Amino acid sequence: MNTQYRQPKIDDAEDLAKLHLKVWEDTYTGLLSDEVIHGRSLESRIEQWKNTITKCDNRRFIELAVVDDRIAGFIFASTDKRDNDIEADSEIYAINILKEVQKKGIGKALLNDTFRWLRSQGCHSTYLWVLEANTNAIGFYHQVGGVSFQKRKKLDCEHIALRWELDG
Ligand SMILES: CC(C)(COP(=O)(O)OP(=O)(O)OC[C@H]1O[C@@H](n2cnc3c(N)ncnc32)[C@H](O)[C@@H]1OP(=O)(O)O)[C@@H](O)C(=O)NCCC(=O)NCCS
Repeated sequence: MNTQYRQPKIDDAEDLAKLHLKVWEDTYTGLLSDEVIHGRSLESRIEQWKNTITKCDNRRFIELAVVDDRIAGFIFASTDKRDNDIEADSEIYAINILKEVQKKGIGKALLNDTFRWLRSQGCHSTYLWVLEANTNAIGFYHQVGGVSFQKRKKLDCEHIALRWELDG
């Protein structure tokens, strides 16, 4: 397995939209409603990725994992957090890796590159939200040093926030 890590290009938008949908289907079927999983068309997802990639500036970090020349995962983080009431100076919006290449170290590599980038931007802490029922992801986050610190209902389901201190 040959894995490379790189920033996205606008031409990656379609592959990213397809990968994102596939990982959501594999991860959330049975945990979230079909409406939430399939609520948006592929076209609108592609458009959203094009916008996200175009707007990628020094406040946003996206990194792709490319396995054997195919996009197999991504992470998306920002120094713009969405929750004013959470004490952190950055947020990880999403991390998604195709089922067939999970548990091969890709998630950890993407997370470590993100932490490096956040530190380079002067950040001291970061956090993310995960569905409480997504026990696989929570197991991973705990393994890589995340600490659960808050619970909140989003999309009608309980979510947990995990936090990382980036100093030291
Ligand atoms: C959660 C996810 C990002 C983890 O990435 P991954 O590439 O499978 O994880 P890695 O192989 O990098 O694992 C890193 C470490 O965590 C451990 N780990 C991975 N999954 C684990 C789990 N469920 N429980 C405990 N430890 C776990 C690995 O054994 C490894 O340990 P090591 O460093 O001692 O060798 C990935 O499985 C994924 O994308 N899942 C589907 C989408 C999803 O749920 N995203 C998160 C939404 S908030």
